[in-house]
Amino acid sequence: MIEGVGLSKNYVSEYNRKMLTHAVKDVDIRIDNGETLALIGESGCGKSTLGRMLLNLIPPSQGEVLFEGNCLTKMRGAELRAIRWKFQIVSQHPDSALNPRWTVADSILEPFRIHGKITGGRDQKQELERLIDLVGLEPGQAARYPHQLSGGELQRAVIARAIALDPAFIVCDEPTSMLDVSIQASIIRLLQARQKEIGCGCLFITHDIQLAKIMGDRIAVMLGGQIIEEGKRILDHPVHPFTQKIVSPGLNETAPDLIPACECSNHACSFLTSCPSRIPRCNIYPEMQVCGDRRIRCHLVS
Ligand SMILES: Nc1ncnc2c1ncn2[C@@H]1O[C@H](COP(=O)(O)OP(=O)(O)OP(=O)(O)O)[C@@H](O)[C@H]1O
Ligand SMILES: [Mg+2]
Repeated sequence: MIEGVGLSKNYVSEYNRKMLTHAVKDVDIRIDNGETLALIGESGCGKSTLGRMLLNLIPPSQGEVLFEGNCLTKMRGAELRAIRWKFQIVSQHPDSALNPRWTVADSILEPFRIHGKITGGRDQKQELERLIDLVGLEPGQAARYPHQLSGGELQRAVIARAIALDPAFIVCDEPTSMLDVSIQASIIRLLQARQKEIGCGCLFITHDIQLAKIMGDRIAVMLGGQIIEEGKRILDHPVHPFTQKIVSPGLNETAPDLIPACECSNHACSFLTSCPSRIPRCNIYPEMQVCGDRRIRCHLVS
């Protein structure tokens, strides 16, 4: 199980060190073994930053990441190296995930070499064949360089590399958004089957509501760096006005007298300026509350 507790990330501007981007603000998140949490939200709301913090790829400004109860953010050196392979990422751009000067086979086998999990050439060949077959690539494609594969083939190679060592937790950051719909479906099926087989936890980041429903055992909606609603079927029965808006975008388009952002307090709900159901209390940020089988940050449900 992987858990983020009170996670925040502030990026400092390179031009003005006093300017901060509060990319993620005080997020609690938990993903069990074998479970997929689909994370959905508008561009720039902090999804990738949250995923990368959970993988320990970037340090949080506040909060900590726990893996099987151990604090990942405090681990250093050999202790961290020993479990590094358990965390993997499949990102939107497969071309930047593989070394362009290496063959696909070299890239797929790299995790084994780094972690000393392969002893001889025969083992390597067997592992390579197993992985290539698993992700549905042709054996001959392993000898090619990344630029000699299509986007879909390349993404399969990235997945083969990510699942090589049976990871415990994987972040899929919009893994199919650059691909055709037909190729998307086969990649998604591949990811889903493999993830359930290995029993690893998965944070599946997407903009696509339908994909979030297909992939997510649970779904979390992010807005302005925070999770504002989370639960099992929240996209079928959205309660937070922002979740309602992303599920039915046309619904509140004509809401009257939406207030300008300059009139909101700094601590207001992130959706205040556009929320058709706002009340005066929304000028103070709502705490996360448990409401039935979901968690939600909205004064309307208190
Ligand atoms: N390295 C960085 N330095 C400064 N600001 C950053 C950095 N990475 C991200 N940000 C900012 O943090 C915010 C959140 O970015 P993030 O990439 O996490 O969003 P996202 O939800 O993944 O967006 P998208 O859906 O477009 O991928 C954005 O305002 C972004 O500009
Ligand atoms: Mg992103």
